Amino acid sequence: MPATINVNGRITGEREAVVPVLDHGFLYGEGIYETMRTYNGRVFLYDRHVRRLRNSARLIALDLPFTEDDLAAQVRDTVAAAALGRAEAYIRVLVTRGVGDLTYDPRATPRPSVVIIVKPQVDPEPSAYERGVRVVIVDVVRNHPETVNPMIKSNNLLNSALAMQEAIRRGGFEGLMRNYRRELSECTTSNIFIVRGGVALTPPLSSGLLPGITREFLIEIGRDVGIDVREEVLRDEDLFAADEAFLTSTTREAVPIVAVDDRAIGSGRPGPVTRRLLEEYRRRAQAG
Ligand code: PDD
Repeated sequence: MPATINVNGRITGEREAVVPVLDHGFLYGEGIYETMRTYNGRVFLYDRHVRRLRNSARLIALDLPFTEDDLAAQVRDTVAAAALGRAEAYIRVLVTRGVGDLTYDPRATPRPSVVIIVKPQVDPEPSAYERGVRVVIVDVVRNHPETVNPMIKSNNLLNSALAMQEAIRRGGFEGLMRNYRRELSECTTSNIFIVRGGVALTPPLSSGLLPGITREFLIEIGRDVGIDVREEVLRDEDLFAADEAFLTSTTREAVPIVAVDDRAIGSGRPGPVTRRLLEEYRRRAQAG
């Protein structure tokens, strides 16, 4: 099903939706975004996504041209226009620096562009959850936090695209990146967890990664269901020696990782801690 797209308040089909070539999002990748999804037609964890969008905007010195209520109304209208029926919505909100002359000077672009893309949410294949997936550790290094900080959910995604190209060439479901200190950071569009001795571990923000909303929510779930979920610096050998591993994102929830490169992780099958956290995540997502 094609996308329904809102460009600065005008909702159209994907063929009619256009942004000018002089938009600095196109010219320089200057912009930020969020990916959200619905469960039972309601956007899940909307407030957390807006909070992260605000933080991304602050980190690139961009004034968001809307209030939270304005944005919520635009998202609602775009989802309604998409008329997805029983399908859940995938929602991508982008805010770019806007249209202006060929200069990095932000005074050339007084009005940010706001785009909302709505499509049906496509879940990973059931086999990804039942049998688990293989990821590869890629040679592309995650951005140094003093370059384009991975904290910023930025439209400037060349680093991630190159990492995913490598993962695809090597047949990986995802590409796992290390930071410049060779610590594990995150995958191209998801965060990473391992399980060791019943404790779930995920790299800390100081390893240079996006503070995933799913990651944050799973840390809270762990606390509630009695699974210790902690941040810890992780390296390749921690992953290879793990009992279980999984990746998390809004669109993929928690997907078990059963192999990394050519090595099996744990038993080579999805493990009980991953299953328990996924089960509870889904229960809360369905409950809204
Ligand atoms: N990706 N790390 C990166 C680099 C990401 O792009 C994402 C999200 C995540 C997980 O974050 P969250 O749990 O908030 O979705 C981690 C989205 C889904 C995307 O790129 O569309």
